[in-house]
Amino acid sequence: MCGIVGAVARNNVVPILLEGLRRLEYRGYDSAGIALVSGGLRRLRTTGRVAELGKLVDEQAFQGETGIAHTRWATHGAPSERNAHPHFSAGATKVAVVHNGIIENHEVLRQRLQVAGFEFLSDTDTEVIAHLITLNLRKTPDLFEAVLCSVAELQGAYAIAVMEEARPERIVVARNGAPLLLGLGEHGNYAASDASALLPVTRYMIYLEEGDVAELRCDGYRIVNCLDSSSTREVMRAVHESELTDAAVELGPYAHFMQKEIFEQPGVIANTLEMVLNAHSISPQLFGSDAENIFKHTDSILILACGTSYHAGLVARYWLESMAGLACNVEIASEYRYRDPVASPHALVVAISQSGETADTLAALGYAKSLGHRHSLAICNVPESALVRQTDLRFLTRAGPEIGVASTKAFTTQLAALMLLTMTLAKLRGKLSSEHERGMITALRHLPVALQRVLQVEPQIKVWAERFAQKRHALFLGRGMHYPIAMEGALKLKEISYIHAEAYAAGELKHGPLALVDEDMPVVAIAPNNALLEKLKSNLQEVRARGGELYVFVDADSPIQQSEGIHVISLPEHAGLLSPILHTIPLQLLAYHVALQKNTDVDKPRNLAKSVTVE
Ligand code: G6P
Repeated sequence: MCGIVGAVARNNVVPILLEGLRRLEYRGYDSAGIALVSGGLRRLRTTGRVAELGKLVDEQAFQGETGIAHTRWATHGAPSERNAHPHFSAGATKVAVVHNGIIENHEVLRQRLQVAGFEFLSDTDTEVIAHLITLNLRKTPDLFEAVLCSVAELQGAYAIAVMEEARPERIVVARNGAPLLLGLGEHGNYAASDASALLPVTRYMIYLEEGDVAELRCDGYRIVNCLDSSSTREVMRAVHESELTDAAVELGPYAHFMQKEIFEQPGVIANTLEMVLNAHSISPQLFGSDAENIFKHTDSILILACGTSYHAGLVARYWLESMAGLACNVEIASEYRYRDPVASPHALVVAISQSGETADTLAALGYAKSLGHRHSLAICNVPESALVRQTDLRFLTRAGPEIGVASTKAFTTQLAALMLLTMTLAKLRGKLSSEHERGMITALRHLPVALQRVLQVEPQIKVWAERFAQKRHALFLGRGMHYPIAMEGALKLKEISYIHAEAYAAGELKHGPLALVDEDMPVVAIAPNNALLEKLKSNLQEVRARGGELYVFVDADSPIQQSEGIHVISLPEHAGLLSPILHTIPLQLLAYHVALQKNTDVDKPRNLAKSVTVE
């Protein structure tokens, strides 16, 4: 979702801003823009990609030492050049604003500003911020003060960066509910939505907190916090040295980030499991120093998440119930936050999120706490994210930056983390014998190798992908803990190939979806060698009897064989309880290769965003 980059330096900042935007492209966007002062405040905007903005910049020899830039994912107003950021407002000086988030009271403010004589040139909520700052600049000549007064009037979630024509040697930024960090460099200071955008110029980052407003100059910065409107005060924030390697955000030999991330899974699963791979037993310490105490009093689990992370939660429910004997509810965060659920004080709230910045997940967590849930755990891939700061306990998946909008390696590392959680809770509840524990650790230790073997099915998947590319719809079937894997497979296919795909619990087939089955509807089934295989086979017969073409993923030694209308790809081995992790891989590969056939924008599918920081 919208990406922000700002820079104040001793040299021309345009290449830094453009490279920063390029690195934020993965978040998803539909227009881009840049502003700087060069003989007056100027801007360039386009509904094209960042590369096109780069061409405009070259044509116009756009240069300056202070600038702000933005990729916009449309919320208020269509994706058009006039709605693209930066937005301007002119008074005694001219200001430019870029913004990520949603200003909820924009209509009230817009009316007030129109009465005050401001003319609106866009349909965005962002333009309200620009005019509000100009209005406040009538009371104080200082941009920093004007931004402080303005943010006090904003309701909603936002990160903003602001600069002005009269004093171009600084930018002012503010964060409330949307991610923003500062980068401290040798030749200047910077701001961005995430650390990857600034890696070419610095590794030293300050993660702004809610309510922080900062002024950045070439030779320094200051931060005040205005969360408590009665006492705005200057604050010190820790400087972190980023551990991200530049290689982590480079494509290397791969054609797409999604491809790279699929193939990284054996390595990142090994990283995520590192703490247990050399151990003989599992410890609650993995989740934080208080974990043992909290887990001992946990009587049920409430999982909150969105999208792919929600699917990881659905798999975990099967594990938690069967291995740990714990009741588990899994809720879509955007639904949970507007229901009237009954809180259970001894339930552990588990929020799962790759980014740790998903607005609905953060809000659902806050809501669960307000209802009386006492303890929470984050399973997250971004150490400095808002989510990680808001829970008592945390487990960091170590997937590295995930750039492809369609989540892959984050999902499988979340599953690995959730298995560790299940084992820990099961052990504390006396439900995991030492023998079973050792067996599970051995199976986890083997997982990277097993994943590497599964990746070798790629050539067979390519053949299937050619057939799928001709189709308009697909059904995905699974049973038990592989039903959520079917959901994830369908989500991957629709996200990047734009083929309509639905997942069903195979037992539900005859309650409706069977009516859709004919030779034009490929049916993908996930059919591992487990106790439900016989049941699933009957469901597949129902499809075959109606002329449906079956594409079945089985394990080695499966009784399901290739025959007329039944295409089979066999995974090298059966992984028992870890089977959902292995069976995810061919579904990711299928979506990827169908998208390649259809020539879609694999890493940046239309209309989607990587990090959904608005409701
Ligand atoms: C977006 C992304 C999905 C992701 C979901 C939840 O929709 O495109 O890939 O699963 O957000 O994101 P989170 O960062 O909370 O896991």
